[in-house]
Amino acid sequence: MSAKLIDGKAFADGLIKRVGVAVSKLNNRYNFKPGLAVVLVGENPASEVYVKNKILQTEKSGMVSIEHRLPETTSEKELLALVKSLNEDDKIDGILVQLPLPKHINENAVINSISPSKDVDGFSIPNVGLLSTSGEGLIPCTPLGCLLLLQDHLGDLTGKNAVIIGRSNIVGKPMAQLLIKANCTVTITHSKTKNLEGECKKADILVAAIGSPLFVKKEWVKNGAVVLDVGINRLPPEGDKKGRLVGDVDFENVIEIASAITPVPGGVGPMTIACLLRNTVTASCKRRNINEPEM
Ligand code: GUN
Repeated sequence: MSAKLIDGKAFADGLIKRVGVAVSKLNNRYNFKPGLAVVLVGENPASEVYVKNKILQTEKSGMVSIEHRLPETTSEKELLALVKSLNEDDKIDGILVQLPLPKHINENAVINSISPSKDVDGFSIPNVGLLSTSGEGLIPCTPLGCLLLLQDHLGDLTGKNAVIIGRSNIVGKPMAQLLIKANCTVTITHSKTKNLEGECKKADILVAAIGSPLFVKKEWVKNGAVVLDVGINRLPPEGDKKGRLVGDVDFENVIEIASAITPVPGGVGPMTIACLLRNTVTASCKRRNINEPEM
């Protein structure tokens, strides 16, 4: 068997178009454009690429896009002061502080200084709490993107065995909450899991979010499983060529066993940005207490 490719790029392009339509509707009906502020501290090359794409797509969808680039030497106090001013700025509906932050800045303090109603990453404690209770808060973008792809491919997820590799606050833990809500039986595995291969082999849905290139092997995957690869890793350069981008899954071999799989690039990655834009529209409507257009 050769797995079907789950085309995250095509799905994300469609979602971004629908977000653009929602933005025009809001502008026509209520005379405002949702605004997203992106903050980048320092010069992490991967973060530079992510932030550039986020800003480009925000502008393309017709929203207001504000960019703040701060030097590596920025103090925590200065960053907290910027977040406070963005919290108080009525034109701004979403605030994203790109992670990781320089080591001298306490990430948790910064994340939790963002007003929960503008926390379009869904990383602040109130939004984490809402995700595990009512589900009414803002939902982290990468796991939300994974859920949308899974539901598009499989429909109802009720009763599926879902196994997540990785327990991060950004992907693993919120992914588990979303899949529990979707009636899956969920296992979170991580670096200390005994018999990782055996746990993975039980998965109808396998989500790999470890940050280790080509980590998940063909022998770990059940016949017909649906595999989502959240990893984006660059292999070492070959000769004078840049190393190629690969995921956390040994794609070329797992494709023989899985029934469907996301490629890297072009799978989960584009969904993160599309969901960020969707979250910004959601935040803009909640803050104004108006109905959200369909997206
Ligand atoms: N760094 C890697 N992924 C993310 C993300 O989804 N949001 C933010 N703010 N930083 C990140």
